[in-house]
This record gives sequence, structure tokens and C-alpha cells, in this order.
Amino acid sequence: MNRLTTPFGSYELTRFPEDPRDRLRAWDAADEYLLRHLDSGTGERGPVDLAAAAGRITVLGDRWGTLTTALAAHRPTQITDSALTRAATAANLDRAGIGTSKSTVTLLTTQDPPPERIDVLLVRVPKSLALLEDQLYRLAPHVHAGTVVVGTGMVKEIHTSTLRLFEKILGPTKTSLAEKKARLIFCTPGTPGATRPTSAGPWPLTYTVDEDAGSASGLSVVNHAGIFCADRLDVGTRFFLQNLPTNTDGARVVDLGCGNGVVGTAVQVHDPDAEVVFTDESYQAVASARETYRANVREGRRTAEFHVGDGVAMLSPGSVDLVLSNPPFHSHQATTDATALRMFAQSRKVLRPGGELWIVANRHMGYHTHLRRLFGNSEVVASEPKFVVLRAVKQDRPRPM
Ligand SMILES: C[S@@+](CC[C@H](N)C(=O)[O-])C[C@H]1O[C@@H](n2cnc3c(N)ncnc32)[C@H](O)[C@@H]1O
Repeated sequence: MNRLTTPFGSYELTRFPEDPRDRLRAWDAADEYLLRHLDSGTGERGPVDLAAAAGRITVLGDRWGTLTTALAAHRPTQITDSALTRAATAANLDRAGIGTSKSTVTLLTTQDPPPERIDVLLVRVPKSLALLEDQLYRLAPHVHAGTVVVGTGMVKEIHTSTLRLFEKILGPTKTSLAEKKARLIFCTPGTPGATRPTSAGPWPLTYTVDEDAGSASGLSVVNHAGIFCADRLDVGTRFFLQNLPTNTDGARVVDLGCGNGVVGTAVQVHDPDAEVVFTDESYQAVASARETYRANVREGRRTAEFHVGDGVAMLSPGSVDLVLSNPPFHSHQATTDATALRMFAQSRKVLRPGGELWIVANRHMGYHTHLRRLFGNSEVVASEPKFVVLRAVKQDRPRPM
């Protein structure tokens, strides 16, 4: 059912975390279009000789590892911002009997130094134009005039602004005809410095939080490209900051889905004895949180932990006093509450009895019913027309299921 047949082989592919009830596939028409094109050997820019480029192929933005797995025989390097993508890729490769090592596939994050030399650059266009801009600027010095650059995406994901970025950073760009609502992008890189900029791009962006944001007012917030609300404080986050618990008293506090880390940093600044743990599935987000923390907390007082991964899955059961979250309502392109609900269940596990989960959310998400079902209680801490802050307490005894 989850088997994809490509010109390079047939693979069983899943997303991460694997959920048998999840009907969403790990690939789409954009992945298939690119793989067909690569196999045809006669792209609009002439043949793509994967065998000759073996070991110097970079795949940027692969969603669940489909491209990386199908091209594994050519030893590609995957670059992703998502720990979920990385985990899905490792599982898909493993299922295909392929390991991850220098002799097979290399898995890098958006924060790692890029590969030295790129002969083929394959780009699955990300949702965030900022992330695409940042990554193209990072990769540009490693691309040469002979590099074959092919992008792919669903028609609705590729805009004039997307093409302009390829054009501005790498070189002349055009698109293919659409097939099954997917399109390819062909870009001809110039020589660095001659036809394209050598600048490092505008990221990261730093802003100072204005007044009216509780204990975050005046904090300096660092934002790497592609993270949630990178150029200003989100309205929901502001409402959360205005209503955070103030009696943390040296507690172990998790900023779950930390983004730029403004929430956890505000807690630490207010309570220097708190042990703050930042987690996010985005490498760009955790790098931002780390820098936000460093910008606001004096060196001798820095005790925080930073983790990239799925929610709080990396923390031990019963090890946390308080979880704070402005949970996501997207997973890659899809709008869903699945991630938030998984985070609530994970939070309950890592909280000690009596520990609390506080969230801010759009009122219409109706999270209070989910919290009540999971925790047996849910209280509205604050509300305004659009947002609510909810609190759920882990009770001493396990809830009968
Ligand atoms: C609505 S944003 C909130 C960001 C930040 N706390 C703020 O208020 O500005 C949700 C965050 O959850 C992160 N996220 C999404 N899925 C996740 C997962 N499975 N595990 C951990 N974090 C995740 C996103 O990367 C994003 O940074």
C-alpha cells in the first residue's frame, strides 16, 4: 500500500512517526515527476548523468526521504531542516536495506556545513520561501557552472517569487510543463561572483520584543530562516507570554515546539533557578532558541538543554514539572491537529504527578476537550476573542483508559 515504484527501484516508504491510521503517503506527484525526469536522461538541460555525479549529488528539502532513498545507489547527500524528515529517511533507507554512512547516503541538517562540491542539486521546494532563500545562499558557493540544478514541487507550491529566488541566487531559471499538478524547475548556475551574488543572505534576523509581552519584553530574539513567525512576535505567543505561570520556583520547564525560544528564555530570565529545556523538530528553530537564550542569559547562569526531535519523546517519564507550548497546526504542507495531540500525550508522560501542561491556541481548535480526555481536567487560564491559554494537571493516579 505504501510502496512506490520508481525507475530506480520499488520501495516501501513511510512518514515519521509511523502511524498505521495515517493514510498520507510519504511521496507525491512532485517526487515522482523528478525521479522520472532524472531517469529519462534527457532533461531540458541535457542528460543528467547521475552515475558520473555519484557522491556529489545534493537533495535539499526531501519531505520524507523518498528522493534520497530512490537515489541511494548514487550516494546522495540529504539536507533537511526537519528531525522528522531525517528519522523518516533513516527508516525508509533501513527498510530498503541501505544504511547511512559515507559509502551510501549522507544525512546533513540545514545547520551543517554544506558538501564541498555539488554536481547535481535537487531541490524539493520547501513551504518557506525564507528557508529556500537561506539554503540557496548557503549552497551557492558549492555549485559550479556545470552543476545540474532541478527543483520540483506541486504547482501550488511554486510561485513567481520561488523562481525569482533561483534566478537571483543561482542563475537563469525556467519551468517544465505541469504533470499531475506538479512542475519541475530548471536552473543554470553561473560562475560564482560573475552572474550570481556571493553574499550570505539576510538571515538570521534579530528583533527586540516590545512592551506588553510579559517577562519577554525587551528580550532580543534571534530567528533563523524558515522558523515560525521569524520577523515579529506572533499574536498567540504574545498572549501566552502575558499569561505564563509566575511560580516556576526552580522547576524543570520545557518550551515545547520552542521556535525562536522566546517563551523558555522569558521563563529563565524571570526565574534564574528554573531548568529550561528547549525542544523543536526544526534544526533552524533550535539554533534560533540557543542564540536567543545566549543573547539574554548571562554566561555563568546558562543551564538550559536544547534538543531537536519529535516533541518531548527524548525526555524521561516523570522528569518534568511544567510544559509550555504554542503547538503547531501544520505538518509540512498539511493543516492538522495530529502533532499537537501527540505533543499533549507525550507531555502527560514526561510530567511528574502534579506537573502541568500550559498551552496557547486558537479558541476554535477546541483543545480543551482533548486535554480533558487525556488529563481528566482542563482549565481556561486566560481568554480573548481569538486565543485561549489552557492548563491541564497530571493527576497522581493513572487515568483508567
Ligand atoms: C506555532 S509554532 C510556536 C513556536 C514558538 N514557541 C513561538 O511561540 O513563537 C510551533 C512550533 O512547533 C514546532 N514543531 C512542529 N512539529 C513538531 C514536533 N513534532 N516536535 C517538536 N516541535 C515541533 C515547529 O517547528 C514550530 O517551531
